[in-house]
Amino acid sequence: MMRTGVNMEFRCIQCGDTYALDDILYACRRCGDLLDVHYDPQELERRMVDTDWKARPLGVWKYSVFLPFPEDIEPLSLGEGGTGLHRCRRLEKELGIHSLYVKNEGENPTGSFKDRGMTVGVTKALQLGFKTVICASTGNTASSLAAYAARGGLKCIILVPAGNIALGKLAQAIMYGAKVLAVRGNFDDALGLVGRYVEEGDVYLLNSLNPFRIEGQKTAAFEICEQLGWKAPDRLIIPVGNAGNITAYWKGFMEFQSLGIVQGLPKMVGVQSEGAAPIVKAYNLGLSVLEPEPNPETIATAIKIGNPVNWRRAIQAIRDSGGLAISVGDEEILEAQKLLASKEGIFVEPSSATPLAALKKLLKAGRIDPEETIVCVATGHGLKDPEIALKGCKAPLEIDVDLDSLRKAVEA
Ligand code: F0G
Repeated sequence: MMRTGVNMEFRCIQCGDTYALDDILYACRRCGDLLDVHYDPQELERRMVDTDWKARPLGVWKYSVFLPFPEDIEPLSLGEGGTGLHRCRRLEKELGIHSLYVKNEGENPTGSFKDRGMTVGVTKALQLGFKTVICASTGNTASSLAAYAARGGLKCIILVPAGNIALGKLAQAIMYGAKVLAVRGNFDDALGLVGRYVEEGDVYLLNSLNPFRIEGQKTAAFEICEQLGWKAPDRLIIPVGNAGNITAYWKGFMEFQSLGIVQGLPKMVGVQSEGAAPIVKAYNLGLSVLEPEPNPETIATAIKIGNPVNWRRAIQAIRDSGGLAISVGDEEILEAQKLLASKEGIFVEPSSATPLAALKKLLKAGRIDPEETIVCVATGHGLKDPEIALKGCKAPLEIDVDLDSLRKAVEA
């Protein structure tokens, strides 16, 4: 069906109902489930032939032919994407595996993967003529939206769970000029509240139930394939909170495979914290509906989420890819965070250390073939959450301004 003139439309993930991309809606009008952007493959093939997209520099907008805009769109950008895919040889040795990479999304402009979704989502907000944007957030969505809203001259409203957001993220959101509101409740409460508020009118919602967010985030999967020499990895290990990102990666890998750009698909491993693991539970018990976790608890505040909106799509990605779901404890997370920083020079926030913690656990249990090409997604920078990092470290040794104390201290 051709609704937008570019052969793209929203399609309900459950009943398949379709809508125009300029329709302002975040769920299917018929059945209430979430929406995906669906492309006519022939249109994508035509766009690919018509452009030299492979020659463009790495980054979200390199892949504009696969994004839901006309090709001449002027994006609102801060230079997002194009992040490093770092081979981790010292960790390979430590873990006894053949090939391990970390996709370091902390290299994005506001320090997390959210910038990929926000450059696309806020570009759409501007195209639709909105003056105000809103989200609920555990912190990174907040800081990213606040930055892009500032750059686009939009008013930005942010709801965070009171007392449960890492210091760096709070500082960012406030500095970018957003109206930051601390809700006396958890993330799930805040998201529910935002959902009710946007029904009242003229505010654009930029949580990951907005399909444009997913479109931007899928470009990380494209980049990984390209960085591996136009090949999909054997396995992708990724933290899961509200489950938008695992959904986005899977969509990206599937699109590249179905267009013949890469052969094969990775097995998707979704990782949650033990105290906030409703998807792991649903997947491993084969439940047909999610049982929300009413009191999520973990030091990884980014993924402290009990009722993830994208749960159905996460489970589908894990199942269809032949992957698995696993949870890790706070101690394992902190240990992995230190290991990644001290062995490879990659400092991530706690939630972003969950893939490495999961990898260690899976290797120990013999559930992963050590010969695989494995990519762990490091979703956010370590400086986002300095308090947790410092809690687990020794304070620096103080010395006098003399050479003798320096020598003694170095040898101690
Ligand atoms: N890692 C980090 C650093 C995050 O900030 C988040 C989510 C995730 C992983 C999980 O991604 O929700 O797509 O499964 N943070 C959201 C926020 C919820 O509000 O910043 P997801």
